[in-house]
Amino acid sequence: MKLFVYHTPELTPTGLVPDCAIAVDVLRATSTIATALNAGAEAVQVFSDMDKLMFISEEWPAEKRLRAGERGGAKVAGCDLGNSPLDCTPELMGGRRLFISTTNGTRALQRVQDAAIVLAGAFINRQAVVNYIVAKQPQNIWIVGSGWEGSFSMEDTACAGAITDGLLTATGLSIGELAGNDEMIAAYTLFKHWEKDLLQLMHHASHGQRLLRLDCHEDLKYCIEMDTLNVVPVQREPGVLVKH
Ligand code: MLT
Repeated sequence: MKLFVYHTPELTPTGLVPDCAIAVDVLRATSTIATALNAGAEAVQVFSDMDKLMFISEEWPAEKRLRAGERGGAKVAGCDLGNSPLDCTPELMGGRRLFISTTNGTRALQRVQDAAIVLAGAFINRQAVVNYIVAKQPQNIWIVGSGWEGSFSMEDTACAGAITDGLLTATGLSIGELAGNDEMIAAYTLFKHWEKDLLQLMHHASHGQRLLRLDCHEDLKYCIEMDTLNVVPVQREPGVLVKH
């Protein structure tokens, strides 16, 4: 097993597809997707393009769909929801499909959608993702951070480090045996530095600061909770994730 970390979708090698890809957008798309599925959503369908989301979701019965849209951290007008995991209650999600488009997270999922296994990872479902990988034993794994409009996002790489930490423990491999690239070691080191104070890391991160300006402090607190959900969002068909 070899683990590669890429800080953004743009940094992934072109023309290659891994056995398993984990898209990470801690703030907040993959945290929201995991929460929605845990709360009983039938599936989550992701779109990078908002118009396409509106067009495709129109084919679904209104009572069976929810539309979530986020740009710049804020809710898109005309959508039922923004991108807060705290809105994903069982009452709202139960039996419905969540159609979602966000600034960066949904783009990361689309970048890796041709991999044999595609998962959505966050701090809240970190251990569930690790357990899934250990059960499937893929040879090549990519963790792809969503970043922010092409640039590095510290929280995504820290989460990649948390998944790395879990895989090291679960497999008994050494860091040298597991490492596929230097970024994996950097991600692991970043996580180990901040693991006892992830909220502080969020406060330093530029997107954490953006969300604080939008009054989303509770979202930050929720998204740094580690291993709270035993759910793995798994791609069933391109762009459609279901609960495992
Ligand atoms: C994104 O896709 O960039 C994020 O999930 C933004 C957010 O809603 O915090």
